Amino acid sequence: MRLLDITSAFSLFFIFHSLFSGCALAHQVAFYVHNKCPFPIWPATAANTGHPVIADGGFYLPSGETQRILAPWDWNGRIWVRTGCNFSSNRQPACETGDCDGRLACNGLIGTPPATLVQISLQSDKSKPNFYDVSLVDGYNLPVSVTTKQSSPKCAIGGCYRSLNNLCPHELQVLNNDGEVVACKSACLAFNLDSFCCRNEYGSPEKCKPNVYSKIFKEACPSYYSYAFDSPPPLVNCAAKEYVITFCPSSWGGDHNST
Ligand SMILES: *[C@@H]1O[C@H](CO)[C@@H](O)[C@H](O)[C@H]1NC(C)=O
Repeated sequence: MRLLDITSAFSLFFIFHSLFSGCALAHQVAFYVHNKCPFPIWPATAANTGHPVIADGGFYLPSGETQRILAPWDWNGRIWVRTGCNFSSNRQPACETGDCDGRLACNGLIGTPPATLVQISLQSDKSKPNFYDVSLVDGYNLPVSVTTKQSSPKCAIGGCYRSLNNLCPHELQVLNNDGEVVACKSACLAFNLDSFCCRNEYGSPEKCKPNVYSKIFKEACPSYYSYAFDSPPPLVNCAAKEYVITFCPSSWGGDHNST
């Protein structure tokens, strides 16, 4: 009799436990962050105002590995990647690209541009789609693809045809200490002109047109925002609960380390 009571108490516990964890999962979206680059990366996340930090704001991801991170189903924010990091020294910045105040866990801080940005806007109403895009408006460090876990062509943002770091014009290049191009600034970031940044008198799609620099970005990575008013807007909307974000989706991601 006593044994039976204990057994039923345990089953009750497990029923409740699975009910509640099931509930928690139902209210979350999963991102599988995959590193296909032939070198380690340090993915980072930053929430928009009013949204919580996810995955501590940043983590280490060795080559070939995947980390699953969870976000509340109404989360808004960005995911990017840092490269060439060394957190064991007191060096500032700790990373060659995308650094956030020299920390591993960005914990709400955004990264130093240029860095390729995955921008995400989840909607709590499950009948509405989630919006996401990849932006080079501040520049580029690595290629990335975004897909739903159940693959669907209309939900996919492809990578780049060529490494933008290899194509980057001299005046936009960011070099590491070894003289390698590790990132490519956007024209807005490099020159801070209204015509490149689509500000003031250039603050509309009619006035802010593609420029010689944004065209280089667009040709290499046609699925990304190459400048603020890129048209048609390369924004994807899809209703899914699981997404895959792959850095260096093509093998040439290795170009990052060559000159
Ligand atoms: C990181 O920095 C420390 C201290 O400067 C240095 O000893 C170490 O070799 C560096 N690690 C790598 C992988 O470069």
